[in-house]
Amino acid sequence: MLVKQVESLIEGENNPIGQLANAVALIHETMGFWWTGFYMVKDDVLQLGVFQGPVACYNIKKGRGVCGTAWQENRTMVVPDVEQFPGHIACSSLSRSEIVVPLHDVEGNVIAVLDIDSKELGTFDDIDAHWLEEIAHVIERHVNF
Ligand code: SME
Repeated sequence: MLVKQVESLIEGENNPIGQLANAVALIHETMGFWWTGFYMVKDDVLQLGVFQGPVACYNIKKGRGVCGTAWQENRTMVVPDVEQFPGHIACSSLSRSEIVVPLHDVEGNVIAVLDIDSKELGTFDDIDAHWLEEIAHVIERHVNF
């Protein structure tokens, strides 16, 4: 399964950018998503990190869009229709649904978010949230942020 595949791909390496890039590549290629990537907490914004898919916006403020809301509220956001989400940031006009999962340091602070976009409505549900949170835990354990 994908959680185990991500783990065996990144464990034992000490190369955060390479590990995150490979994790993104595996998720993106396996699942055929539209955009898969990380935004990294840097001071008071989320900064664009490694991703696969179309070009994206560089900085997202806390509380802004789906990513900034996931960061502020420290919870996974499942958005079945981005047009119904107030303040959604449309990096790509083709994105229709989205999931954002926060990643944490050992103290529980949000250090990054995993953002996945789909060209179809309603792509993500609670089961996706569960396995993507498992992947987030694997990444928290093996990547030296
Ligand atoms: N849709 C996101 C912005 C990032 S792009 O989708 C890559 C949001 O509203 O947080």
